[in-house]
Parts: sequence; C-alpha cells; structure tokens
Amino acid sequence: MARQRTLSIIKPDATGKNLLGKIIGRFEEEGLRIAAMRKVHLSRAEAEGFYAVHRERPFFDELCTFMTSAPCVVMVLEGEDAVAANRRIMGETNPAEAAEGTLRKLYAASIGENAVHGSDSPENAAIEIAYFFRTTELH
Ligand code: CMP
Repeated sequence: MARQRTLSIIKPDATGKNLLGKIIGRFEEEGLRIAAMRKVHLSRAEAEGFYAVHRERPFFDELCTFMTSAPCVVMVLEGEDAVAANRRIMGETNPAEAAEGTLRKLYAASIGENAVHGSDSPENAAIEIAYFFRTTELH
C-alpha cells in the first residue's frame, strides 16, 4: 500500500442537487483526506483541456457542455492507495453498472451525468492534479 493523491471532481449534477457535504463526508469516512479543494465554474476551454484524451469520442461535446453547465468542486484526495480507493467509492462510470452504496449508484442519473470524476491511474492523477492546483496549494 502506498500513500497517494488523486483528483476528484464533484460534477454539476451533484453540486446542483446540493450533495457536496454527503460526497465529501463519504470520502472522509472512508479514510481519505482533502489535501486541496476549490469550487469552479469551468470554461469551455478548461473542460476541453481537462478531457482532451476523449476529444475524438462521440460523447466529447456532450461531456464538455455538461461540465460547463454549472459549478463543480475540484479536490485532491490523499490516503492509502487513494486512486483505487476513490474509484471503489465512486463505482462504475455507468451508474446502471455501479455497485450498491457507491456514489454513482446513490447519486448519478446516467453515464453522462455521473456525479463524480476520479483519476484512473497514479500517472493521470499527477497530470490532473497539476491541471487544477499548484504544488503550494496542496496541504
Ligand atoms: P469521467 O470519469 O469523468 O471520465 C470521462 C467521462 O466521459 C465519464 O466520466 C462520463 O461522464 C463520460 N462518458 C463516458 N462514456 C460516455 C458515454 N457513452 N456517453 C456520455 N458520456 C460518457
């Protein structure tokens, strides 16, 4: 087990349903700590840059429209195996396939509007954290 950091985003559907406390509380209950946190209303350019790896996917335009529709909360979660722990807590990308009790099962409506994002590897976590936070903002 290794101490890691990972990027988490609470997406516009979840911020709009007033779920910030429930979601952040769940991360803390599961042993992750918030190393950095900010509420942001992403510009189109910021959303497209963050999801650049998906640029050629058919859902890219829909994804960026959704991510800019209302504010998000971007966070750095820290803890033992934080990347995998966050993904376990979130559940599958598609809420219809997510396990009982996971954030996406509890709070997400569809694969497009799926409440939360989490980095999928330690390498991508480093890239995604650097996209939103300076090193001096991580505590
Ligand atoms: P996320 O973990 O933020 O990473 C990429 C996002 O693309 C994903 O969550 C989904 O919200 C979205 N996504 C993936 N597949 C689809 C799809 N088939 N249709 C719409 N959105 C999708």
